Amino acid sequence: MDQLKHKKAIITGGSKGLGKATAIAFAKLGIDVAITGRNEARLNETVLELKTFGVNAFYEVFDVGNYDAVKKGIKNIISNLGTVDILVNNAGIAAFGTLNDMDATLWEDIIKTNVLGMYYVTKEVLPYMIDKNEGDIINVSSTAGLTGNASTSAYSASKFAVIGLSQSLMKEVRKNNIRVNTLTPSTIATDMALNLGITDGNTDTVLQPEDFAQFIVSGLQLPRRAMMANGSIWSTNP
Ligand SMILES: NC(=O)c1ccc[n+]([C@@H]2O[C@H](COP(=O)([O-])OP(=O)(O)OC[C@H]3O[C@@H](n4cnc5c(N)ncnc54)[C@H](OP(=O)(O)O)[C@@H]3O)[C@@H](O)[C@H]2O)c1
Repeated sequence: MDQLKHKKAIITGGSKGLGKATAIAFAKLGIDVAITGRNEARLNETVLELKTFGVNAFYEVFDVGNYDAVKKGIKNIISNLGTVDILVNNAGIAAFGTLNDMDATLWEDIIKTNVLGMYYVTKEVLPYMIDKNEGDIINVSSTAGLTGNASTSAYSASKFAVIGLSQSLMKEVRKNNIRVNTLTPSTIATDMALNLGITDGNTDTVLQPEDFAQFIVSGLQLPRRAMMANGSIWSTNP
């Protein structure tokens, strides 16, 4: 199971929640990890934890919704890592409210972060993977990207868009030996889900961030001829 050792990964939104759990799972496998986010103190804390596993770990601070900042941040990351093998497009925000009630600025922010953010980061990373004719891109959508519900118009619109972006990209770059994995996880106990009040986070019944991380790793561990194109992870007995 050493095939991932010394690989280089970028995880957006790697300071907490699902991104942090994935960064820890990667570090345990000997993968060097660059994490990104907006809150520098939290990024720094996570990097210190990642370094205890003996890997190269560092952070870049940028808002994924700001294309100029993304360009600069990804350039810095690649010059530190030397190359990139794995991109986890995980950064995201969520808020619920009816279409009528939700403030237009918040609606736009959700689209900007979850959709344009993923597009900007991918656009900056992809040329490196095409050049080396190898790579893995994991795009985090949601079960909210498979069906709309009352009060989720912004979040569902963003996560539907992620699926469209991701599946199209997969068909564009399979020929370049780049595996694109579209994930549609159900509720997982992170700050996002707890703050939205959609779970109590019970460790016996509710998916935990480390389960999500293990799911990602299992896809990456497939032989390169095989690709987890889409993946849903649900709790067994909610
Ligand atoms: N938890 C769930 O139940 C669940 C289920 C399905 C899908 N998801 C998806 O999984 C992903 C991670 O969610 P989570 O539950 O781990 O949420 P979380 O605990 O709130 O973490 C979100 C991460 O994204 C970063 N982030 C947010 N906005 C950003 C921006 N504009 N620019 C850069 N970084 C940004 C945050 O860092 P900063 O605050 O420092 O920027 C943080 O590291 C999201 O895409 C979410 O939609 C979550």
